[in-house]
Amino acid sequence: MKFFIDTANLDQIREAQALGVLDGVTTNPSLMAKEGITGRNNILKHYVDICTIVEGDVSAEVIATDFEGMVKEGEALAELHDQIVVKVPMIKDGVKALKYFSDKGIATNCTLVFSAGQALLAAKAGATYVSPFIGRLDDISTDGLNLIAEIRMIYDNYGFETQILAASVRHTMHVIDCAKLGADVMTGPLSAIEGLLKHPLTDIGLAKFLADYKKGN
Ligand code: G3P
Repeated sequence: MKFFIDTANLDQIREAQALGVLDGVTTNPSLMAKEGITGRNNILKHYVDICTIVEGDVSAEVIATDFEGMVKEGEALAELHDQIVVKVPMIKDGVKALKYFSDKGIATNCTLVFSAGQALLAAKAGATYVSPFIGRLDDISTDGLNLIAEIRMIYDNYGFETQILAASVRHTMHVIDCAKLGADVMTGPLSAIEGLLKHPLTDIGLAKFLADYKKGN
């Protein structure tokens, strides 16, 4: 299972990278805005900065919503760095763009996926990654994890190679449940990754080991 961090915050990306378990980064226009990164040139520079910190895939989202615009923007993003994955929204022209990029060998991440049907279309169009937003489904009283299970079943039925990138992961249990369901990737905040570390018995056990060592030395 790959771990991506879902942020445009360089300090958090560095911290996750330093942990040694980071496989990539996802961003979106909201995450960029949260870090105060605005204006096309600054945004493009920020993507390159992220690529220099991590070794894996870095999703960069197109803003255009028409086919020609998405192609133009996506090709420019892909030119930026070989780690860039072009993030395309699940809309009609987005499906066409996914197919276009797939035929050209440009890696893609189909974003804003909320149903199994959308995920099926993304795979048919040759998306590298599909991003079901599980937290946002949970937010509206719909089981986000159930969507991961449905997509896993559909992709396995037909051997689709599109990787399931569980997105809008909010906490550590989402990570564990996605792993149980066979998501290929999860993207979430640093807190969801670091939460995996924690267990009170680990802390108690370590404190006792250290105390016992001190007694004998
Ligand atoms: O990866 C998608 C993500 O950025 C959305 O997360 O927490 O805004 O639903 P959230």
